Amino acid sequence: MAKFAGGEVAFVGVIACMSLCASPRVDATITCLNVTNWLTPCISYGAMGGSVPMECCTGIHELNAAYKTTEDVRKACSCFQNGAAMSPGVDYDRLNELPGKCSSNYPYRVSPDTDCSKVGFALSAQSSKYLI
Ligand SMILES: *[C@@H]1O[C@H](CO)[C@@H](O)[C@H](O)[C@H]1NC(C)=O
Repeated sequence: MAKFAGGEVAFVGVIACMSLCASPRVDATITCLNVTNWLTPCISYGAMGGSVPMECCTGIHELNAAYKTTEDVRKACSCFQNGAAMSPGVDYDRLNELPGKCSSNYPYRVSPDTDCSKVGFALSAQSSKYLI
């Protein structure tokens, strides 16, 4: 009888942890849709040059502010890479100029050759939060 009650307490503890312990991770996830929304205004510059739309810089800043984990950086990297690959005539050198033009950084170089599974945060002289 006492043994059974003890098991029940442990079981309730597991259930409580399943709802409480897991919740802090849920709100910090960047989706591909987020990345698309933030960076779509940047594609016209990537394809044609000209002036950088303000929405593009805003998007880059919001994306950088949204990175919480290495997984976020990797996911955004592959979303950006896929998005760029589907944008005809996009010039990767121009895409990589954008953070500088927006007074910001990407935590990785956008290129068809970038291995997004290996990118992540790295410290740099310019920024302690995000960089190449
Ligand atoms: C990503 O987009 C969803 C749906 O539009 C939004 O609710 C969420 O806040 C966005 N994530 C971030 C980190 O802004």
